[in-house]
Amino acid sequence: MKKAEIIVDKHFLLGDVDKRIYGSFIEHLGRAVYEGIYQPGSPFADEEGLRKDVIDLVRELQVPVVRYPGGNFVSGYHWEDGVGPKDQRPAKVDLAWQVIETNEFGLNEFASWAKKANTDVMMAVNLGTRGVEDAKNILEYCNFKEGSYYSDLRKKHGYKEPHNIKLWCMGNEMDGPWQMGSKTADEYGRLAQETSRIMKMMDPTIETVACGSSFLEMPTFGSWEETVLEHCYDQVDYLSLHQYYGNRDNDTANFLACNVGMDEFISSVVSICDCVKAKKRSKKKIHLSFDEWNVWYHSNEADEKLEKWVKAPHQLEDVYNFEDALLVGSMLITLLRHADRVKIACMAQLVNVIAPIMTSDTGAWRQTIFYPYMYTSKYGRGQVLNTVVKVPVYESKTYGDAPYLDAVLVMNEEEEAITLFAVNKNLEEDLELACDLRQFADYKIVEQIAMSNPDMKAVNTEAQPFNVVPEVSNGVKFEDGKLSGVLGKHSWNMIRLKK
Ligand code: AHR
Repeated sequence: MKKAEIIVDKHFLLGDVDKRIYGSFIEHLGRAVYEGIYQPGSPFADEEGLRKDVIDLVRELQVPVVRYPGGNFVSGYHWEDGVGPKDQRPAKVDLAWQVIETNEFGLNEFASWAKKANTDVMMAVNLGTRGVEDAKNILEYCNFKEGSYYSDLRKKHGYKEPHNIKLWCMGNEMDGPWQMGSKTADEYGRLAQETSRIMKMMDPTIETVACGSSFLEMPTFGSWEETVLEHCYDQVDYLSLHQYYGNRDNDTANFLACNVGMDEFISSVVSICDCVKAKKRSKKKIHLSFDEWNVWYHSNEADEKLEKWVKAPHQLEDVYNFEDALLVGSMLITLLRHADRVKIACMAQLVNVIAPIMTSDTGAWRQTIFYPYMYTSKYGRGQVLNTVVKVPVYESKTYGDAPYLDAVLVMNEEEEAITLFAVNKNLEEDLELACDLRQFADYKIVEQIAMSNPDMKAVNTEAQPFNVVPEVSNGVKFEDGKLSGVLGKHSWNMIRLKK
């Protein structure tokens, strides 16, 4: 059996966890909005047509912030179409996803939903087919108290108080040739600079996110980040990263190594941000917003066959299996291990569309990936300990050396608690664990759970919603300040200790 040693010191802190790393994303895409969070007439809907069963599950996930309304969708969106009396809202063609958008649901409904789901809104503006003027107007509508055209329009629409949205994305994936109104790095950098500057003139309390590359393999990756930041470094607060992974070759060991790629992606973007900082002799540090991440590939083939120009089709409806949950658990560990620079992250997406939550007319259920997301969001708050993991590696096809164990410890001083999140990626064998926690010798284990399954492809469905769930485990004990025991082969684990 292979052995992993974990070394920490409670004084060696990586950084505070910004709770916004447990964010998510709702786009006007497929059944995310319609039949996902909004379904008037459903037995699960409240008086505003918002699905209560979904709100309950979102609250269970403790999602602190949700990005809206896209995604590729936002680059052709007219937010004005989705406000005011519903019977006067125009149906429009959405070129991004080749569907009809009815605009029955818009930003006011989303702000209402967010309140009920106990989450904040991260709003994206359209810098594809629109620009500074539109960004200024939507901010005035959302955040200006009263006495101006757009703030009074919001009041007329029944929303007396401003929505006070604090986080704004300057467009979406503007480097992508598939994006409506895509731009060169110079064009976009200037636009992000001016848009952010003017929006902050309207509301200096907001924070803004500039678009980084759409994914690491983009041919312009690196130079895009550098050029964009050279323009807008002083005006924006965060740079975005997006990345999705898939097990297209059915090579599970390689698939589980994908977060090695995620880790390198984050480190590279941090380096570029700091390179621009040095060139500008700036005191300001740009932080990262990993505002789209997940597994996405199961639905690709089915999506190619979808009928076009219909309303809310079953689009991007990945059914997640057990191995996807393992990778999601590892990706969350990677985000935590970069807590000093990654301040926002959004699992893409939240409901029905590449999502932890699925709905049908008969109810809502949790996909496999729901569980690592939920537990990490709930207990991965506090300060990340600089977690040194000594463990053998295996050779993965795409990412080279991949450690058999991903692990991180989060300390919550207020609650006098410490939580270990760990994924054993060994597909053949259990792993021996030894973790020296002598500074916490007066703590004891309060919860130990593991998610494992003999079938890497096992899924949760409407018919079998609890097929893959975490279980109470007892593989590890805590004695004399030492955590030791065995983590099952291919398993996600959480061990919580408290004083
Ligand atoms: O999340 C699905 C899509 O992936 C988003 O619309 C886009 O930003 C990304 O390419």
